Amino acid sequence: MKTTIIGGGGRVGSCAAFALQCGGVVSEIQLLDANQDMAEGEALDLVHGSAFSSDQLIYAGDYDRAADSDIFVITAGLRRKPDESRLDLINRNVSLFNQILDSIISAGFKNDAIVFVVSNPVDILTHIATQRLGLPWRQVIGLGTQLDTSRFSSFIAEELRLAPTQVRALILGEHGDSMVPIWSSATVNGLPIEGLPECTPAFQTKVFDRTRGSGAEVIKKKGGAGWAVGITIRDTINAIALDQKRLQPVSSLQQETYGIRDICLSVPTRIGRTGVIDQVEIKLWPKEQLGLQNSACTLQNTLKQVGV
Ligand code: 2OP
Repeated sequence: MKTTIIGGGGRVGSCAAFALQCGGVVSEIQLLDANQDMAEGEALDLVHGSAFSSDQLIYAGDYDRAADSDIFVITAGLRRKPDESRLDLINRNVSLFNQILDSIISAGFKNDAIVFVVSNPVDILTHIATQRLGLPWRQVIGLGTQLDTSRFSSFIAEELRLAPTQVRALILGEHGDSMVPIWSSATVNGLPIEGLPECTPAFQTKVFDRTRGSGAEVIKKKGGAGWAVGITIRDTINAIALDQKRLQPVSSLQQETYGIRDICLSVPTRIGRTGVIDQVEIKLWPKEQLGLQNSACTLQNTLKQVGV
């Protein structure tokens, strides 16, 4: 399975490439970047480790070489300037993203290609890609709250001194300020976390607030996310490549799930080789469902502001 990472010379794209190399699932990883030297440098660095990692073809390429990709991962994006509003950043990233889509469209792509959007604002850009590429909506997926879910589960484990891989706690909705913590289905090894005495309202607020602020926290400390976002990208690509039918909190065009439609946000979504198999409406607490509706309204307003 050939995967092209557009933005592969950047931190998120190169960490995703490294996660894919360590996972050894996809057969080919092409790095594309406006900074060709960086794409070539990252590809070279990865190839240096090939003999001790996996038998994949890894190289820096271009859009023409990407035309036969099975999966396009788009991680390229601009970072917020210190005095820049979120909306200003959105407008600059929408413009860059449209240029990337223009390049993909002019070089061509396979009818069964999957486009996996990571760049922010990921829900808005997933919506734009769904509109512009002419692929079935099921073949356009956004990373959505997959990374937030990983952070949320990891923080719960850290605070409660649990094994992180045994904690499953979902974040749904917008990958942004209106994201929704789903405590109703949070478990540790299948047991409800809500049942633990330490899981007080104060604990829940503390862990969720830290999760929601994590993007900003990691930007402040090291300039931006890398390792964790790479792992969560790999998790979804493996679900596609291996047709795993895994249920993941990723973004796609909503088809009336929880009464939400015509906007991209994250609900539990079964992912396989053809992309979105279905969006699953698991039972939520009323306040969680309200939170999802609020996310949808927030994103609808943003779409209007950027003129999509
Ligand atoms: C984050 O939350 C990259 O949007 C991503 O760090």
